Amino acid sequence: MKQLKNKILITGVAGFIGFHVAEELLKNNEHCIGIDNINNYYDKKLKLKRLSILKKYKNFKFFKVDLSNQSNFKKISKYKIKLVINLAAQAGVRYAFENPESYIKSNIVGFSNLLSFLKKKKINKLIFASTSSVYGDIKTFPWSEKNKTNSPLTIYSSSKIFNENLAYSYSKYFKISALGLRFFTVYGEFGRPDMSIFKFTKNILSGKPITIFNRGDHIRDFTHIDIIKDIFVKLIINKKFEKIFKNRSFEILNVAGGGKIKLLKLIQLIEKYCGKKAKKNFVGLQMGDIKQTEADLSSLKKYKLLNKTVKINDGIKRFVKWYKNYAL
Ligand SMILES: NC(=O)c1ccc[n+]([C@@H]2O[C@H](COP(=O)([O-])OP(=O)(O)OC[C@H]3O[C@@H](n4cnc5c(N)ncnc54)[C@H](O)[C@@H]3O)[C@@H](O)[C@H]2O)c1
Repeated sequence: MKQLKNKILITGVAGFIGFHVAEELLKNNEHCIGIDNINNYYDKKLKLKRLSILKKYKNFKFFKVDLSNQSNFKKISKYKIKLVINLAAQAGVRYAFENPESYIKSNIVGFSNLLSFLKKKKINKLIFASTSSVYGDIKTFPWSEKNKTNSPLTIYSSSKIFNENLAYSYSKYFKISALGLRFFTVYGEFGRPDMSIFKFTKNILSGKPITIFNRGDHIRDFTHIDIIKDIFVKLIINKKFEKIFKNRSFEILNVAGGGKIKLLKLIQLIEKYCGKKAKKNFVGLQMGDIKQTEADLSSLKKYKLLNKTVKINDGIKRFVKWYKNYAL
């Protein structure tokens, strides 16, 4: 009888990063189960569009699952899963002031339920999304994984610090190899409509003003989605995951692409590729804002996980081109 291939479970598969990671693994012939609750944090049409692309792959199965509802896990319990990639979350820094409960529900309750599922099903490999926001507003750069993460500025950051701590305990007690990836501002095609590059492009092209926080002085370490995809290929297809966990059960890595840029400079690039000037509305620093992010990438390099670079100029050019096709 034909042996069924063990599957990779990807949560948040209709989301920006989940979609790209899933597609990359499917192209590499992995069998993936994708789950998502398709919430309405941003336009569901974009999530459904991403899903429609994934559903074209024969080696993909989708289930509508809300991680915060434990009984929903029944839908996937018959599958043999070799690895879980958790990309589902209530994302976004600013929304945490408006709706903190959604972070508790998805990131605290949902993530806890997911870890119970791993324990129950004896799944011993986990890769989960964390964020550069765990560093709070540490003033010495670059930010290293060795820095303390005990001053979160938002509930989003607190929820991700909780994720790291809970995954650490599960890794110790239940023999789960757990890898937390602290993503630094990820952007690219099919990106999130609540993030600056998407919002700026949309407003510049439609002639609407853009609101620029901290008068454009913010500095961000941007990461193109291709870098993330490449890291997942190295971890899973090229089996770097097993190498990392030969002598340990838990690891945290900064994930960035070395694309540090000032906000005003970024806007100039978007203007260039939109072929239009932005109407700028400058405002001051907002609650929970972090002025600068910059990743220390030595751990990522030590594991030979960072080979790819996408220059911010090229990344923005590609994004604007995609946006014009997608939205106009
Ligand atoms: N995009 C970035 O720049 C960035 C930076 C740092 C960290 N992250 C983290 O990376 C991960 C992916 O981010 P993204 O940008 O793709 O966000 P996204 O919002 O596009 O994707 C998250 C997906 O999770 C789903 N989801 C939310 N709560 C759920 C629940 N309870 N049950 C099932 N599905 C649920 C949403 O519907 C969404 O499709 C998140 O954990 C996020 O916090 C992203």
